[in-house]
This record gives sequence, structure tokens and C-alpha cells, in this order.
Amino acid sequence: MNAPIGEAEDGPPVVPALSVIVPTLNELTNIEPTVAELDRALRGIAWEVVFVDDDSRDGTPEAVTALALRDPRVRLLRRLGRRGLASACIDGVLATTTPAFVVMDADLQHDPDLIPLLLRALDTVDLAIGSRYVAGGDGTALGARRGVASRIATLLSRLILRQPVSDPMSGFFAMRRAQFDEVAPRLSGIGFKILLDILVSAKTPLKVAELPFRFRPRHAGDSKLSAGIAAEYLLLLVEKLCAGIVPARYLLFSAVGGIGLMVHLAVLAVAVDWRLPFALAQALATWVAMTNNFFLNNFLTYADQRRRGWNVVTGLASFYVICSIGAIANVGIANAIYTHWSVWWQAGLAGALVGSVWNYAVSAIYTWRR
Ligand code: GDD
Ligand code: MN
Repeated sequence: MNAPIGEAEDGPPVVPALSVIVPTLNELTNIEPTVAELDRALRGIAWEVVFVDDDSRDGTPEAVTALALRDPRVRLLRRLGRRGLASACIDGVLATTTPAFVVMDADLQHDPDLIPLLLRALDTVDLAIGSRYVAGGDGTALGARRGVASRIATLLSRLILRQPVSDPMSGFFAMRRAQFDEVAPRLSGIGFKILLDILVSAKTPLKVAELPFRFRPRHAGDSKLSAGIAAEYLLLLVEKLCAGIVPARYLLFSAVGGIGLMVHLAVLAVAVDWRLPFALAQALATWVAMTNNFFLNNFLTYADQRRRGWNVVTGLASFYVICSIGAIANVGIANAIYTHWSVWWQAGLAGALVGSVWNYAVSAIYTWRR
């Protein structure tokens, strides 16, 4: 027989007023200290914490579960087959019902003593940000190299931001739920930068307060920031710059296609120079270009759903098949148009466009499906 579930308890239940959203990816040894710090810093506030875990393998979800069995303020949202700090935060907020929420890291880099101040700021603004870059703030714990990268990312964010914010890269902020619900349908949810996403997705600029805090060194474990995160940031920028007119992925896919064309011509030139039969040279150039495009798209265009390990091999195989069909359609359509119209460049362009849209649409479904 299974063990009986739960026992009735007396006394009125405490309804939380604040949800703390904490994304986690392999943060086992940071869970308990994080909850202990929240417990200490949020005296007098009815809070809950939602850990949003993306299938950590180090025992993080088990540690959260163990805590949640003792402490009703602790909740766990597990996601399988998904990755991403921003989308984890969005899902975490949507899983709550409190009038306000805070987002923070699970590694004690964000000092929870700031949370009561952020909440007080929400009396007069929509969004209260913990900032490293206003007077009194400190981001030096990021290290010199990351510090420079953070500054560059902050500069680039001005391309899409409509209001001055000193630290739109911050992962530590508080917001009212009503305002979040207003922007939520337009969020991209790509990559690491949920705050920037929120700022840019608001219909009218949000009223913002920035409060200084000292970004602390990581308590334990490693940062999840990688080169891929930079590519995801680029994807977010392009997506917001195009404002939904052309999908960002299609633009990046086309840019990769343009690079592929140059690779194709370079290989063709060398192969012809080596006196390979032309058809063979062209086939070789096509193969190299397709392979090049697959890896570039896997790294850049689909940074947020990159295929890894064995999935690279199957993905590459599907990409070869899809692009081959695209090439046949391209030549067929260009040829048909040319016989009726006989303007070579228009026929060629139409064929290439149909081929590229086919490659994009079908590889989105089969090669990089979620
Ligand atoms: N669920 C989930 N899924 N959580 C993730 C993922 C993911 O794919 N990637 C990272 N996390 C969690 C980490 O476990 C950590 O709790 C938090 O998100 C931040 O990740 P870190 O790896 O610690 O990032 P960082 O310290 O380099 O950067 C942080 O601070 C910067 C400065 O404020 C982030 O908050 C950045 O967004 C922020 O710009
Ligand atoms: Mn961190």
C-alpha cells in the first residue's frame, strides 16, 4: 500500500503576497543557502519561492523537493526538454498568483536584502531593478573579461531600448504582476536577458526605478554563461529590431545562406582550378556549403535549441535531404520562369527565394523542431 498523503492542519493558511522566481540549472549546493537568505531577508513579508529547474542532473530538483516537504513557501517547477534562463523566468511567473514577483539568481550573487527596497519602490514604479551601474552599485565581482562583455552588451541594448536604463542586463528585479501580464504575450523568451526583453516588449515605456546593489561572487558552482548565450543575445536583438515584421530567425538563416553562397563559390573556384570535372566540382561545393550552413545555423540561428552529440549527425542528415529538395525546387522554378519570361536574374532570384524559404520552413520543422 502507498503511504497516506498529507494530514489536515489547523489554522488559517498563509497566502503569499510575493513570489521569488529563481531559475536553476545545476545549483544543488546553492538551494538551501538561497532559501535561508530569503528567510532572513524577508521577515514580515508573506513570500513563496518558485525554483524553475531545467532538468538539472546534479540533484537540484531533489534538493528543492526535500525542502518543499518541510517548508510550504518552497515550490518547484520542473521543465523537461527545454532550456533558457528567460523562458524559465516567464514560466515561473506564470505559475504564480501573487500581485508582485522578484527574479533572482540561485547562486547568492543577488543580495536578498535589496528585495524589501525593490518592493517599496514598486509603490511608485512598474519595475524596480537591482543595478550594478548606478552610484553605490558594484559589478566588479563579474571579473574583468565578463565586465567588458557586460558593458558591450549594455551598449548594444541601446539599439532596442526606448528609455535610459543603466543595467538592463541585470537578472535581479521586481515587478507588479499586472504589468507583467500586459507585456507577457509579446516577450521573446530567448536567451538570458529577461529584463531587457520585458523593457523592450512593453507597449509604452515602463516606469523604472534602479536601486544600487553589490553583485557578489558566486557562492558555489559555475556560471552557465557561454559563447552560445552571446549568440542568443544577438538573436534577441535582431528579433526586437525587426519588431515582428520578418522573423529574426529567417533573417539570420538568410545571412547564413549568403555566407554559404560565398563558401560555395570559393570551393568551386578551387575545385575547378584542380581540374575536377565541373559537375563533380559543383557537387563538392554544394556539399561543403550545406555542411557550413548547417553548423552556422546550429550555432547562431538556433543557438537556443542547438543540436548536440548524436543529434548533430541526424540533424545534418535531415538538413542535407531538405536542402537537396530545396535545390531541385530552386532550379525547377527558375527554369520554368526563364522559359516564359527569359529575364535571367529575375528567374534566378525567384528560384533562390523559393528554395531558401523552403529550406528555412522545412528545416525549422524537421531539423530544429522544439
Ligand atoms: N532554468 C534555467 N534554465 N536556469 C538557468 C539556465 C537555464 O537554461 N541557465 C542559467 N540558469 C540559472 C542559473 O542556475 C542561475 O541561477 C541563474 O540562472 C543565472 O545563471 P548564472 O550562470 O549564474 O549567470 P551569471 O551569474 O553569469 O549572470 C547572471 O548575472 C548577470 C548580471 O546580473 C544572470 O542573472 C544574467 O542575466 C545577469 O546579466
Ligand atoms: Mn550567477
